[in-house]
Amino acid sequence: MQLEQKNVLVGVSGGIAAYKTPDLVRKLKAQGANVRVVLTESATHFVSSLSLQAVSGEKVSTHLLDEDAEAGMGHIELARWADIFLIAPATANCIAKLATGLADDLLSTLALATPAPILIAPAMNQQMWAAKATQQNMQTLLDRGVAQLGPASGEQACGDLGYGRMLEPVEIVEALASFVAINLADDNHLSDEMQPKPLAGKQVMITAGPTREAIDPVRYISNHSSGKMGFALARAAQNLGAKVTLISGPVSLSTPDGITRVDVTSAQEMLDAVEKDIDSQDVFVACAAVADYRIAHENTQKLKKKAEDLVLTFTKNPDILKRVAQRKNAPFTLGFAAETQDVEAYARTKLEDKKLNMIAANDVSQADIGFNSDQNALLVITKDNTRKLAKASKDSLARDLLKIVSDELFKSHKK
Ligand code: PMT
Repeated sequence: MQLEQKNVLVGVSGGIAAYKTPDLVRKLKAQGANVRVVLTESATHFVSSLSLQAVSGEKVSTHLLDEDAEAGMGHIELARWADIFLIAPATANCIAKLATGLADDLLSTLALATPAPILIAPAMNQQMWAAKATQQNMQTLLDRGVAQLGPASGEQACGDLGYGRMLEPVEIVEALASFVAINLADDNHLSDEMQPKPLAGKQVMITAGPTREAIDPVRYISNHSSGKMGFALARAAQNLGAKVTLISGPVSLSTPDGITRVDVTSAQEMLDAVEKDIDSQDVFVACAAVADYRIAHENTQKLKKKAEDLVLTFTKNPDILKRVAQRKNAPFTLGFAAETQDVEAYARTKLEDKKLNMIAANDVSQADIGFNSDQNALLVITKDNTRKLAKASKDSLARDLLKIVSDELFKSHKK
């Protein structure tokens, strides 16, 4: 019951998905949350304040200047009351307003006035969601630390198919509970330096970036990994108190201060670097996109353009993560699973096959997350638990992910 006694302020803007908000409020209440609801003027056309009042047990606020409310709980008190501000559904108009900092109604004013973290569940027509303006506005909000929940893909009220459906209430509540578990500990408002250091005294090794497998002296095969996620993990592990070794494939990122970096090119070199130091590690995080195959017989001279078709034979690379997890006295192992389809199922298979403690499933079919982008979204799976980390900057996700790792380490220590 992560939401027990948490003050959740729900902002509802005017989209068809607003009809789902009574169910959302009911589910939040069932988790023990205190819920207050704010409706925009247009939201009142899709859902009645009376039904939201009935399910929340609290007066629903709609206007910025409401004499009754100002005498009771006015907008500043409401903004301070919230532990968390959830905006669901968030229309394109609402997202645009928040991005520009407008405060011309109660919901947008509260977004400026609240110190609470803001989570947004977008809902709109797929074309409107894909529009450059909406994407840029959403990006602005993400850069400011707002968390994004969805949208999902599917059939829409207008008959279109695509991304833009609001997540189901049950999914929103789950995501909110994960967010609270990770972010709303007592240390929530402390700077990095002041944060507790749950990984103090721990050694964390992280692989990052791509590997390159040579075809001949001038050509290679590789992938689109930029190293951003792995480097964000290295920074986050260091901020949480760990001593970090970062083993990186070829990337153009600078080394965070105080971190030991080992540069490698191929999968075999990465394995050698990992095995050299693995025995002293408490945690191994495999974020690198390691090439599964290399050329069977590397050509020592440049291949000549002779035949119409060129056939290359590949052979399997060693699986670095699997080898680490199989070691006697293996460290805590966190793998990543980069998938374009059946993301959760494939990730679970990797968790089991490689005998890992945890896996972070990464949907790399979406251009705005995963490879080479500044944001990501992950599904974190252990034997007993599955948690969604909503789309956010790679730095913020890395911190959340490593807090989960430190909790798991702590739990296993207590056993
Ligand atoms: O670098 P960025 O641009 O920031 O992008 C981040 C990312 C998308 C690369 C990252 O979030 C990610 O998903 N990394 C894992 C990529 C991958 O290779 O996934 P996989 O499903 O093919 O491999 C599963 C796991 O086994 C991974 O932890 C991988 O590091 C590891 N592995 C795979 C093959 C191999 N030979 N050795 C390994 O250790």
